[in-house]
Amino acid sequence: MERGALPIAVFDSGLGGISVLRELVRLMPEEDYLYFGDSANAPYGTRPVERVRALTLETISRLYDRGIKAAVIACNTATSAAITQLRARFADIPVIGMEPALKPAVLEHPGGCVLVLATPLTLREEKFSRLLEHYETMAEIVRLPCPELVEFVEAGALDTPELLAYLRARLGPYRGRASAVVLGCTHFPFLRGAIRAVLGEEAALYDGGAGAARETQRRLAAQGLRTTHTGRGHVQLENSRNSSAELALCERLLALRET
Ligand code: DGL
Repeated sequence: MERGALPIAVFDSGLGGISVLRELVRLMPEEDYLYFGDSANAPYGTRPVERVRALTLETISRLYDRGIKAAVIACNTATSAAITQLRARFADIPVIGMEPALKPAVLEHPGGCVLVLATPLTLREEKFSRLLEHYETMAEIVRLPCPELVEFVEAGALDTPELLAYLRARLGPYRGRASAVVLGCTHFPFLRGAIRAVLGEEAALYDGGAGAARETQRRLAAQGLRTTHTGRGHVQLENSRNSSAELALCERLLALRET
């Protein structure tokens, strides 16, 4: 098969990467996508970095063997743990990773209070420390590890009383003070509505999904890998928790416009 006709693999520890997949489909609807969520092993963000690296390499290796033209690591945690190794091992395809959208949040709110919500692993890894070094003098940057939010999304709980109570306890103290919030985990864009309900409208929310989709488009075009198909491509949703309920939840999240 011609390489441009192969699907783009999109990978996450679970359901979060669907927030990136929907941006990819919005930008490049004619492409085919193979989404794999590893919900059976989620959450990754509280695991040792070596384990996350091994799980990520193992999954991308399996997807690569099936025939893919690019891999989007739609997970900040897996990107922090494994992007260097992935790029070395799969050097013949573009491998696109995620980065918390700290840059636009700080540049658009200089001197403000910027919250960064992410997993413990993302916040402690070197990749984030390097990013922080660039921007820490320009704003008050508050790191808030929120692994529990991953579990709410994995359970499909996007606006339950328990979720709102958790968010009120974690974010309530910043209401009226935070000027921007970086959603540094791909699960969190599904909680935009609930985060807004707790923080109010004044805080601007940033996530990296649209940026990752644009970067994927650029990389494919640069390597002559865009499909020549017209019309809508195919989206294949797969999950290591291979139940019909899980796949129905994947479909539901993909169909959500904006939450
Ligand atoms: N969605 C992943 C991220 O962007 C993390 C979820 C997890 O902890 O498994 O960081």
